[in-house]
Amino acid sequence: MILKIAILGYGVVGSGVAEVLKINAEQITKKTGKKIEVKHILDLRDFPSDPYESLMTKDFGVIENDPEVGIVVEAIGGETIAYDYAKRAIMSGKSVCTPNKALIAKHGAELFALAKEKGVNLLFEASVGGGIPLIRPYIDAVLTDQVQVVAGILNGTSNYILTQMSENGASYAAALKDAQSLGYAEQDPTADVGSYDACRKLCILLSLALDKQVNYENVRTEGIENISTEDFAFGKALGFTLKQIVSGKICENGVEALAAPFFVPLTHPLASVNDVYNAAWLTGKTTGNVMFYGSGAGKLPTASAVVSNIIDAANATSYIPHAWTTQEANILPPDKYVTKKLIRVICKNPTAIKNAITLAEYPNQAAWLTPPESEEQTIKSLEEIKKMAGVERVLRVFE
Ligand code: HSE
Repeated sequence: MILKIAILGYGVVGSGVAEVLKINAEQITKKTGKKIEVKHILDLRDFPSDPYESLMTKDFGVIENDPEVGIVVEAIGGETIAYDYAKRAIMSGKSVCTPNKALIAKHGAELFALAKEKGVNLLFEASVGGGIPLIRPYIDAVLTDQVQVVAGILNGTSNYILTQMSENGASYAAALKDAQSLGYAEQDPTADVGSYDACRKLCILLSLALDKQVNYENVRTEGIENISTEDFAFGKALGFTLKQIVSGKICENGVEALAAPFFVPLTHPLASVNDVYNAAWLTGKTTGNVMFYGSGAGKLPTASAVVSNIIDAANATSYIPHAWTTQEANILPPDKYVTKKLIRVICKNPTAIKNAITLAEYPNQAAWLTPPESEEQTIKSLEEIKKMAGVERVLRVFE
């Protein structure tokens, strides 16, 4: 059986899907009995001498109106054109497979309802955790348990940068450049380093856990742009490494959700998730702790996850149900979240500060850990500290 598909967007992931389908063609046909054929590729750019040049189109209407195309891979990214095309593809009776976290985080619930109506599927395995086969087992896990915590390291670019800074003494700028050249970063890397990308992925996981819409505008997001070698040095001396973390705690009255840099105890499993690797952490009432681990970004791992969705869509005879609805989840205001904090200050006599550590290489600095306290308590105590010292950094501890 030949199955014809179209790819929207011939960037890192779109071209990766064509490549994975070619590399694994024999394997796919042998195991599934289906031959997947790329019929159209949509991109506004020209690709002279590309092996798929003859399949290129700039007109989405060609794909939308082609009854032979049963599956559309949306790899354009973003929430505007991607949304329009995904919606139109579903309306015209085609299943959509996408790695687009922004699209799923914002329009997932609406598009699932439309897919249900049309008897097709919207599949998004690569939208969280890149190449980690995560979404399917995660949906199974959250279906049968009461989720208490959803957390993790969900941006490969930031994790790569922080690992390079911590392990190899790389500068932030050089590590970011590397991550871009390796194809990990978004077109605008602000989404990676500003924690917006990771925040959208957290919102997808929380929405799936709660069956409600978790809007990313309501989730506090802080970036890693200002992290320095001093942060790593003082963190290490106190038994921590530094990671861009997403953290979602499901409480009785709502959800505590954050995407931000955190100090992670060196003994925590997330501390050993390095480079482009991602990990999603789930604590369920009866399941206990589960960690999904693998390549969080990169052309072929991400494309492989999209290809697994193409096979799922091809095998599905009807809509695969989702409980995620448009009803909004209650995100609690961050000033009440309780965590320990690591405070680092600049002062004339750092050794005089009780319970603080000092490091010979940074003679004018001191750092200490607070007890677990709310953001509003920390802000209050900082007012006193600022009378005696310059506050350089306040970062949460993930436990
Ligand atoms: N820019 C993203 C990352 C790609 O670095 O994780 C995968 O979503």
